Amino acid sequence: MLWIIFGLLTVVVVVVVLIYLYGTRTFSYWAKRGVRHDAPIPFFGTAKRQFLHQISVADMYHEMYQKYSSEKFVGYYLMTTPVLVLRDPELIKCLLVSDFNYFSARNMLPMDEHPEPLLKNLFSCEGDLWKLLRQRMTSAFTTGKLKAMFPLIVARAEKLQRVAGEAAASGAEVDVRDLMARYTTDFIGACGFGIDTDTLSDNNNMFRKLGKRIFVQTKRDAIVTILKYAIPSLMTRFHFFSPEVENVTVKLVKTIMAERNYKNSGKNDYIDMLLDLKGKGKMIGESLMHTKADGTPCMAEIEMDDEVLVAQVFLFFAAGSETSSAVSSYTLHELAHHPEHRRRCQEEIDAVLARHDNKLSYDSVREMKFLDMCFSEGMRLFPSVGFLQRMCVKPYIIPGTDMTIDPGVNIIVSVKGLHLDPQYFPDPEEFRPERFHPDNVSAINKYTYLPFGTGPRACIGERLGYMQSLAGLAALLSQFSVAPSISTLRKPIIDPKVLGVQSVKGGLPLTLTARKKIKA
Ligand code: HEM
Ligand SMILES: *[C@@H]1O[C@H](CO)[C@@H](O)[C@H](O)[C@H]1NC(C)=O
Ligand SMILES: *[C@@H]1O[C@H](CO)[C@@H](O)[C@H](O)[C@H]1NC(C)=O
Repeated sequence: MLWIIFGLLTVVVVVVVLIYLYGTRTFSYWAKRGVRHDAPIPFFGTAKRQFLHQISVADMYHEMYQKYSSEKFVGYYLMTTPVLVLRDPELIKCLLVSDFNYFSARNMLPMDEHPEPLLKNLFSCEGDLWKLLRQRMTSAFTTGKLKAMFPLIVARAEKLQRVAGEAAASGAEVDVRDLMARYTTDFIGACGFGIDTDTLSDNNNMFRKLGKRIFVQTKRDAIVTILKYAIPSLMTRFHFFSPEVENVTVKLVKTIMAERNYKNSGKNDYIDMLLDLKGKGKMIGESLMHTKADGTPCMAEIEMDDEVLVAQVFLFFAAGSETSSAVSSYTLHELAHHPEHRRRCQEEIDAVLARHDNKLSYDSVREMKFLDMCFSEGMRLFPSVGFLQRMCVKPYIIPGTDMTIDPGVNIIVSVKGLHLDPQYFPDPEEFRPERFHPDNVSAINKYTYLPFGTGPRACIGERLGYMQSLAGLAALLSQFSVAPSISTLRKPIIDPKVLGVQSVKGGLPLTLTARKKIKA
């Protein structure tokens, strides 16, 4: 009897020890290299608070950035994956730009050979699929295409004015975060899917719900993510994106493409553009991953099949709406607290519109220089994407050291940390648009201001995001003033459950008041 108990106990102890060893197997990585870091705990690494939703991912890295203020880089363990948090602008330039080939992967979510359909989007895909897609899609984000899309933006901006007018008339406070999200979602619906989504008037629109759902991590998503990191091979059946999100998107996009017989419908929207790109046949180019015996790259060929197309529409939706509305609403929040800047924006908008027949257009928006400065400063204080991520794909020696990092190690740039570092931006908490005055902007080190990232994997939609946000702000401010309301918090609280894009708890409530009679 005693022997049985003893035997069982031994088994339990051995199992516990093995589990412990498995959950801590990488934890000497940074210590061995003399890189400073917080003490990791089994399985969670240094990311426990992040997984328990006690702090947002962006704030976690921001904290690391601030805590180790004398270091050029800091160690971190995302579960058991070693992560290097870069603090030094020179190193950021090396790893993300000059030596990009060593860090061409993003590894936002660990992926296997056959990624789930929605992960084949340009943001999360890797290797040759990324390289060939990026090449092909770059042709779709030209100035010409942007100008062609502009009437769609303007139409939505005008609708935004009408909806805001109703809210202003009722005197109730308005959550500008939600208002701007409905504007951008509406635009993405019109431009990305070619359908009139009417999110602006309809509160419970399916699109807006889908837009919100993509970025919120539910318990189900958190558990799937943790398990996919811990035991990837057993979790291939489970997808990061819940069936609700995946099924709705796949079905919607396939229906639209089938309606168009897989040909350009003449609407000149994003789906047409993708169908044109598909029409060019297989994507062919030099491989990022494979080389011939003589060291030159092999050629790679990938089909733009339905899954690839659906993933790009999904991306347009995910990358284009929440990012832009997060920063434009935050800019409104700051303008509400700085009436002097708000008035100057409005005077500028009035003057520019007067020169342009009172019409918003690509050219008129580009003349709104002060608005642009306010928006740039808004993105500094509240970057919608609080951190950048890359993954090492071949051994790399960190310049200025003899330290080698291995494939699989993740690289993080705390955009928030840099943007709020007094070294680069004196009195970083203060909203000062003059930092971005043309006379001052050249003094900013461009590797310390990264709202759209940098290098070959920087945001492909930067100008679209910029122009769309400015148009929305101009439309709103030309007719309304914004001011803090009773429930406005001066410093909004970041929602730790929302991944990727920084989001605030309870939205951004403000009071809107009409400036002049709204034209009937
Ligand atoms: C104000 C709005 C936007 C902001 C602040 C923003 C920000 C960013 C950031 C920070 C990244 C990561 C860059 C890096 O890792 O270096 C990114 C990537 C990306 N963004 Fe945007 N974005 C915005 C709008 C858009 C729009 C409208 C699109 C349209 C499709 C878009 C498409 C993408 C894509 C495809 C990537 C991944 C690029 C790649 O990995 O090759 N973004 N964005
Ligand atoms: C999603 O689609 C799959 C396959 O088409 C189906 O088996 C599953 O039941 C769907 N799930 C939901 C929640 O609609
Ligand atoms: C440049 O920045 C300084 C310091 O913030 C400010 O005093 C100055 O007015 C700015 N220049 C312009 C032209 O706005």
